[in-house]
Amino acid sequence: MIRKKLIAGNWKMNKTSSDATALVTELVAEVGRTSDVDIVVCPPFTSLEVVGKAIEGSSIKLGAQNMHHEASGAYTGEISAAMLRAIFTNYVILGHSERRTYFGETDAFINKKVLAALKNQLKPILCVGETLAERESGSTLKVVQTQLEANLEGVSKDLATNVVIAYEPVWAIGTGKVATTEQAQEVHAFIRSLLVKLFGDAIAQKVRILYGGSMKPANAPELLSQKDIDGGLIGGAALEARSFTDLIKSAAAVK
Ligand code: 13P
Repeated sequence: MIRKKLIAGNWKMNKTSSDATALVTELVAEVGRTSDVDIVVCPPFTSLEVVGKAIEGSSIKLGAQNMHHEASGAYTGEISAAMLRAIFTNYVILGHSERRTYFGETDAFINKKVLAALKNQLKPILCVGETLAERESGSTLKVVQTQLEANLEGVSKDLATNVVIAYEPVWAIGTGKVATTEQAQEVHAFIRSLLVKLFGDAIAQKVRILYGGSMKPANAPELLSQKDIDGGLIGGAALEARSFTDLIKSAAAVK
């Protein structure tokens, strides 16, 4: 298998820094020496630094949940790529549907962030996915294509393998309604075909495409065994050490 599975926890707006430290300390003890699966935790900004310290020397990597594309300046409330790199952040979630929906992030704005992240040696976890209305009207693939092409505009072939894509059907996020393996694999294979068009086959085969949306230990093995599902971006089930470590074990068990 050329693509190592990746399990990333998106903690969203949960956990104070002491709660975050407690959770990550458990994760380090349980899965901190895992080498057959890449593990990323994405706490809120206020906990990045303490979580970064707690994972030092382990194989767990640090991710942020958002960033601004400008290097510095008068952008009250924002955080730059350089600030994230200075505390050893490796990944950054960009274009999450909650950012698109609640904070009005457009495809063009997300594209600027993707380019700024790559320029600063951060690996974007770029989220795309359709709403329920879009799925029901048969436009899932069109929606995903529009997002992906706009969000990746100007990304060079050299840097494309640093991008991680997360397919997150909006109707499956936090709802307990997981996409069927067929629904998920269909979109993942379609995303892979778009990556082939954009970057060529060799690069497209190296890019990891994660599934996100009510992924739990019970449904993970089937999803993760699909050809183009290379891991998961986990919300609710990442907030508790037991379920997150079970997901990591599921990913490790897939051959
Ligand atoms: P849930 O796993 O809670 O559905 O959240 C998925 C998600 O949005 C991860 O980014």
